[in-house]
Amino acid sequence: MNHVKIIGTGSAAPDKVLSNNDLETLVETSDDWITARTGIKERRIADENTASSDLGYEASVKALESANIDASEIDGIIVGTITPDFLFPSTACLLQSKLGARGVLAFDISAGCSGFLYALHVGYGMITGGTADKLLIVGAETLSRVVDYEDRSTCILFGDGAGATVISRSDEPGILSSIMNSDGKDWQLLYQPGGGSRIPATEESIRNKEHFLKMEGKDVFKVAVKSMENATVEVIKDANLDPSDIDLLIPHQANYRIIEAIRKRLDMPEEKVFCNLDRYGNTSSASVPIALDEAIKIGKAKKGDTVLFAAFGAGFTWGASIVKL
Ligand code: ACO
Repeated sequence: MNHVKIIGTGSAAPDKVLSNNDLETLVETSDDWITARTGIKERRIADENTASSDLGYEASVKALESANIDASEIDGIIVGTITPDFLFPSTACLLQSKLGARGVLAFDISAGCSGFLYALHVGYGMITGGTADKLLIVGAETLSRVVDYEDRSTCILFGDGAGATVISRSDEPGILSSIMNSDGKDWQLLYQPGGGSRIPATEESIRNKEHFLKMEGKDVFKVAVKSMENATVEVIKDANLDPSDIDLLIPHQANYRIIEAIRKRLDMPEEKVFCNLDRYGNTSSASVPIALDEAIKIGKAKKGDTVLFAAFGAGFTWGASIVKL
């Protein structure tokens, strides 16, 4: 049979920690407010010499090691990121070179915080479609580069990091179902205005802080809850499963209250939900693969487990996948 399995995972995060107490010195906020509204206690921040591809490289090397394969065996690299090293070339191409992978296809996907799940979905299609056997799927972000540390409504949320997985053609079931969605009509609720072709960099765009991420948090929150809830219900149905068949839910780590809403909708016990947002904040595309790698390392996710991923992000984009490890 033509199945697709995750055969290796890895993750990386910068050493520097930015705690809620540190943020109290930058903006008018408090550890209590941030903890109660988001569940986040600290996040990691890359130093000035580290970009998304560097974190992606570290995570990829570990994923290849855990899959016990060499970079030369990879048939393609797909990177989910909204903070690429450059607008072009892609972060995936930089990774191809750093890893010494063959000159295989390499490209980035911009799908906000759903970037990793989108990349996994595309990779799944490539392997089942017969155009690849093994792919490196990465989520890598340095959100700190586009966060305004004078805006208390966003700077408390985001952090830097990367996660990687190796997926492979397999005889055993792996990815059981994957459903991705988008709706671009409310794109202005979460975006980075400057730096693209609509608002290129000028002295004015810099003065107006248009190169920073902008978000209407309350509106995004409502859509995120509804979309991720619906996606999880839909993907479970598509895989012919019941919520009780899911061993572990690994949701995008944006906000503890969003995660709780999904858990309640699926009527899952707390121990079946993996959360590490207290230590990393929202790392966008990197959040699901970092969480998966950690869940495997601490034995919370084991071989044979049925794991549900769900994500939501700028675009809007959202989706869910079910994977048998
Ligand atoms: N510290 C203290 N007070 C604050 C802070 C802060 N850091 N930030 C906002 N406030 C204040 C507001 O000014 C407001 O005050 P007011 O009532 O006097 O006007 C009050 O707290 C409530 O603000 P809200 O924005 O309504 O707070 P909310 O409960 O919605 O929480 C939050 C804000 C945490 C941002 C939440 O809306 C959220 O998590 N949104 C979703 C984010 C998300 O999931 N993004 C998804 C993907 S991200 C991507 O794709 C890149």
